[in-house]
Amino acid sequence: MEELLLKKEGIEFKSSLKGTFEALPKDALFVVDSVVLTKWPELMSSICQRPYMVMEAREDLKTLAMVEKVYEFLFQHHETGPVVAVGGGILGDVVGFAAATFKRGIPFILVPTTLLAMCDSTLGGKVGVNYKGVKNYVGTFYKPQKSILCQTFLKTLPAKQLRSGLGELLKYGLLKKDDLLEGLFHEKSLVEMDFAPYILKGLQLKASVVQEDFRDLYKRNMLNFGHNVGHALEGAFPMVYAHGEAVALGLYYELLLSEWTFGLEKDLREKLVKLLHKFDFPTTIPLGQEEVILGYIRKDKKNDEKLRFTLLRAWGVPEIKIEVQEEELRKALSWVME
Ligand SMILES: NC(=O)c1ccc[n+]([C@@H]2O[C@H](COP(=O)([O-])OP(=O)(O)OC[C@H]3O[C@@H](n4cnc5c(N)ncnc54)[C@H](O)[C@@H]3O)[C@@H](O)[C@H]2O)c1
Repeated sequence: MEELLLKKEGIEFKSSLKGTFEALPKDALFVVDSVVLTKWPELMSSICQRPYMVMEAREDLKTLAMVEKVYEFLFQHHETGPVVAVGGGILGDVVGFAAATFKRGIPFILVPTTLLAMCDSTLGGKVGVNYKGVKNYVGTFYKPQKSILCQTFLKTLPAKQLRSGLGELLKYGLLKKDDLLEGLFHEKSLVEMDFAPYILKGLQLKASVVQEDFRDLYKRNMLNFGHNVGHALEGAFPMVYAHGEAVALGLYYELLLSEWTFGLEKDLREKLVKLLHKFDFPTTIPLGQEEVILGYIRKDKKNDEKLRFTLLRAWGVPEIKIEVQEEELRKALSWVME
């Protein structure tokens, strides 16, 4: 049943890079992350048979200008095949958006190379770019034809980026009361971890939600837990936090808000704090910057005339579109994690 959920989303698992590239159509075009190509030069033999472009994945470059570069590449080379994004969430979001809009939509395939992309952005069809510094403000929903996951790529991923993926896994562990968080307590270190069971759990939860509410009109909002504050931190301090690190801090502040709003027990926040320390997450936000962060939170596309958050009534019981007062947010943001 759960395998079917992922099959329906076009998720395939491969154990080698060779198997990954053999599973791609022969008429594919490639957009490849520049760092991935440096770390895995053997990829060259798979992609150089076909037109390819190399891209730098940087959050400040995730803009319409980057999309236009993909359009130029597609304009020169595209016939009928899919365009394949080989990289992390940035490449997937940008190439997916270009594919969604070029010739009113051409097929695209994802080969995620970061933990975050494997456990989150590869599924769900959200594509887009930042606009005037605000996260993912321009975009649409457009599903990849398939996503091929190969954990081998994670061998070269720096600890900060592994932690970033872990941030999204922590979110899944709070949204569903199962043994995900407990499992993390038993892991020795990030670099020795086998991520496969966690990726699977995360994707299964995400698939079950997305299949009920693809357009993010109600139930899917739960996956935004931690993201109002997370996106604001990422927008305000782009060079400080990786996406999932900002989300992990967001989870902390949004758990605090959940305690004040729903009387959520503080044990859950204490569990989170232990895991954040165990895996060396950044646990502070720059002092005296509450107003800057609030400015970004006000611009969040999840708001209407009020600030709207996903909060937890209990472990595994999210409540969506909850109104939060600016005063409470200010108070939360001035809270220092022990
Ligand atoms: N569409 C969605 O549903 C969704 C969900 C979550 C996040 N996102 C977006 O994803 C982005 C973050 O994605 P990300 O964390 O994958 O970041 P990323 O794409 O920026 O990659 C992080 C860094 O790792 C490098 N890298 C990639 N693969 C590597 C590998 N195998 N070995 C060594 N280095 C490698 C990249 O060059 C980059 O420097 C954000 O822009 C976020 O908004 C989208």
